[in-house]
Amino acid sequence: MEWLIGFWVLIGILVGWYYWSKEKNKIEKKRLVPRGNLGWPFMGETLEFIASGYTSRPVSFMEKRKSLYGKVFKTNILGTPIIVSTDPDVNKVILQNHGNTFIPAYPKSIRELFGKNSILQINGNLHRRVHALIGGFLRSPQLKARITKDIEHAVQISLATWKDTQEIYVEDEVKKITFAVLVKVLMSVGPGEDLDFLKREFGEFIKGLICLPIKLPGTRLYKSLKAKENLLKMVKRIVEEKKIALKLTDEKGPIMDAVDVLLRENGESGETQRLPDDFICGNIVEMMIPGEETMPTALTLAVKFLSDCPAALQQILVENMELKKRKTYSCDDYAWTDYMSLQFTQNVISETLRLANIINGIWRKAVKDVDIKGYFIPQGWCVLASLTSVHMDESNYENPYQFDPWRWEKIGAAVNNNCFIPFGGGQRLCPGLELSRLELSIFLHHLVTTYRWVAQQDAVVYFPTVKMKRKLPIRVQAITSSDD
Ligand code: HEM
Repeated sequence: MEWLIGFWVLIGILVGWYYWSKEKNKIEKKRLVPRGNLGWPFMGETLEFIASGYTSRPVSFMEKRKSLYGKVFKTNILGTPIIVSTDPDVNKVILQNHGNTFIPAYPKSIRELFGKNSILQINGNLHRRVHALIGGFLRSPQLKARITKDIEHAVQISLATWKDTQEIYVEDEVKKITFAVLVKVLMSVGPGEDLDFLKREFGEFIKGLICLPIKLPGTRLYKSLKAKENLLKMVKRIVEEKKIALKLTDEKGPIMDAVDVLLRENGESGETQRLPDDFICGNIVEMMIPGEETMPTALTLAVKFLSDCPAALQQILVENMELKKRKTYSCDDYAWTDYMSLQFTQNVISETLRLANIINGIWRKAVKDVDIKGYFIPQGWCVLASLTSVHMDESNYENPYQFDPWRWEKIGAAVNNNCFIPFGGGQRLCPGLELSRLELSIFLHHLVTTYRWVAQQDAVVYFPTVKMKRKLPIRVQAITSSDD
């Protein structure tokens, strides 16, 4: 009998010790988490975070905490306890994600809209495979040569409708251009009924990006998911048509778009399974989000920053007029490399991307404990790599709030610089990086060489996403040959 009591006491001690050490471990880990304030229960510091988004200095939320707790701190925003990094080196390690420590962590409504097979949510080998395919295609000189003509066409059609002295809402106008280019790149849809349908349904789909995650009939999320179904139906039809065409040509024709790339993929050795149709269709629809939530803002803010900086506008005009004259005299078409070789225009684009902070930060979740530069991030915690904090830090950029394209003459080529990360970095570096810069270059070239303009009063808002409050109204006047 005594031995039985002893046995149970021992079991009790062991179980108690197990739970105690687990709890102790948790408490110790909590103690090691970077300093900071988790704010009020549930609300955390969300109100202060959102309020800063409505000021001209949204980064003030981060700056205040950085000065109190250091470059990496904890807070609680949008219902999530989170470790925020404003340190370029820590951000680099998070984005590189060498040990597969981090996975994407989006708010629930965004996760619902993306779908679990989206390139934005998948991980591991499948992610690497799809990222490499899409990135390789978007960066290819063949695509850039072909898409240059489409971008020129879309820009010229749009500019041709801007009448002298009429008020133009830049954001509305550039959306027509960027959407047409995006669907051309993704699935070769040109102007017409299909494009109009995609535009309408995408507009409805994207409205649910930031909303309450409730999926009942009548709610925003429900309507957005319905629009996604409509988009998927059309993309499925396009994929079916393409599959037939591929069979007829024995897959020998040129690769025209992202659908072609994904349909033809059968692994390097030909042993890997083909990607399923549902996976391809879903990803084509979901890739419209990163493409279309960013480009119109980039184009609009480039116009805004140039409007506010006459010296930069004058210099970009001179550089682009010179190219235009050269092309007119030689009667040559523009090559994509002509646009990309305009050095000052490239500096204007870098400065626009730095100052606009279109993607202000990247959310991840740690799937295991990790220590970066002495900062401990426990498994299960979310991290926010703040891109804005890096771009607006005085120790990285002199007078960071000033639009100063000339600073890039000293900084040089922006690539591989931890302090310039508008397109993220590492494993998930934006595959649309080069396409975005090309589209910006072509748009700016034709805009500045076609019109002078005066921008009306407007302001940038930073929450929930970066946008102009009034879509940037401008009045334009055509440039005549006597203006040169
Ligand atoms: C100025 C324009 C753009 C900016 C600032 C931008 C920014 C970004 C950033 C910061 C990321 C990284 C997200 C992360 O790490 O989780 C990203 C990813 C991505 N972007 Fe862009 N982007 C732009 C344009 C485009 C365009 C035009 C396309 C498509 C044609 C595109 C397609 C993508 C895709 C598919 C991803 C996901 C990559 C992955 O997770 O592997 N982006 N973008």
